[in-house]
Amino acid sequence: MSYPESHYLSPVWRDGLFNGKVAFITGGNGTICSMQARALVRLGANACIIGRNVEKTDKAAKDIAAVRPGAKVIGIGACDVRNAEHLKNAADRCAKELGGIDYVIAGAAGNFIAPMEGLSTNAFKSVMDIDVLGTFNTIKATLPHILKSSTPRIIYVSATFHYTGLVMQSHVSAAKASVDSLMASVALEYGPRGVNSNVIAPGAIEGTEGMDRLGGEAAKQPNNSLVREIPSGRMGTVRDIADATVYLFSETGNYVNGHALVVDGGGWRRQPAF
Ligand code: HXC
Repeated sequence: MSYPESHYLSPVWRDGLFNGKVAFITGGNGTICSMQARALVRLGANACIIGRNVEKTDKAAKDIAAVRPGAKVIGIGACDVRNAEHLKNAADRCAKELGGIDYVIAGAAGNFIAPMEGLSTNAFKSVMDIDVLGTFNTIKATLPHILKSSTPRIIYVSATFHYTGLVMQSHVSAAKASVDSLMASVALEYGPRGVNSNVIAPGAIEGTEGMDRLGGEAAKQPNNSLVREIPSGRMGTVRDIADATVYLFSETGNYVNGHALVVDGGGWRRQPAF
C-alpha cells in the first residue's frame, strides 16, 4: 500500500541522510515497523524486512521500496524470530546482498489480551519466546555484521506496560521488561565497540495492529476515553515513531545509548486499564 510521505516522515529531515546504510528490520511488515522502514528507505537506506508470512513480507518489501527510486528492499519471509537459524540465515543474506548491516530494528512482537487465569503456560511462553528470545536471536544474528559498520545502531520496539504493570497484559509486560533489560546489557557490553542500543516505547499509536488488538473499536472514536487520558491530548501516529527512529539512527542520536525513548504523549503516567 502506498502512503503520502507526510504519513511516515516529518518534513525536517535531510534527503540522503542514510545513503549507503542498510537496515535489518524484524516485524517489518507490521504497521509500526513498516513505517520505520519507509522513513529509513526514503532517506537513502536499503533494507531487509523480516516476517513470518512470505506473501505479506514480499508485498511489504515491494511497497517500502517504492518510496525511493533505486531503493533495494529485500523481503525475507518464513523467518520466525524464535528460530535462531532462520535469523542467522536472514542476517547473512542481508549482509551479502546489501553489503552489510548498519541498523537493526527488533520489532517482531506477539500480543493478545488475556487475564492471567486465561493464559496457559504455553500462551505466556509464546509471547516471551517471540519478544524476548526473538530479540536475543536478532541481536545474536546481526551483531557480527553491525560490528563491521561505522555506525552500528539497534532499536528495540518495546512498550510502556511494564513501567506500571497492566491488566490483561501480564505476559507482554513481562516480555517487554526483558526486552528493555537486553537493550541495557547490549549498550554496556557493546557501547565500547561503537554500538548504540536503545528502546523506543510507543504509546497508543492509531491505526496499528497493536491498537486494534488492545483498544478495539472504542479506541477509533474521536476523543475517546483513551485519548482523554493522554496528557498531549491525542493518539500517537506511526510518524511519531518513525521520526524517533530517524533521530536515534542519525547523527542527532550519536550520544544516546542505553536509553528507553518513550513516545506516548505522556500517556504511561496515566496508564489506562484496557
Ligand atoms: C489466551 C491465547 C490467545 C488469547 C493465543 N493464545 N491467543 N491464550 N488468549 N487471546 C494461546 C494459544 O491458545 C496457545 O496456547 C498459545 O497462545 C500459542 O498460540 P499459537 O496460536 O499456537 O501460537 P503462534 O501461532 O505462535 O502465535 C503467537 C501469538 C499470535 C502471539 C499467539 O497472536 C501471533 O502470532 N502474534 C504475532 C502478531 C502480533 O501479535 N502482533 C501484535 C503485535 S502488537 P495453548 O496452551 O493453547 O497451546 C504489540 C503491541 C505492543 O505487540 C504494545 C505496544 C504499545
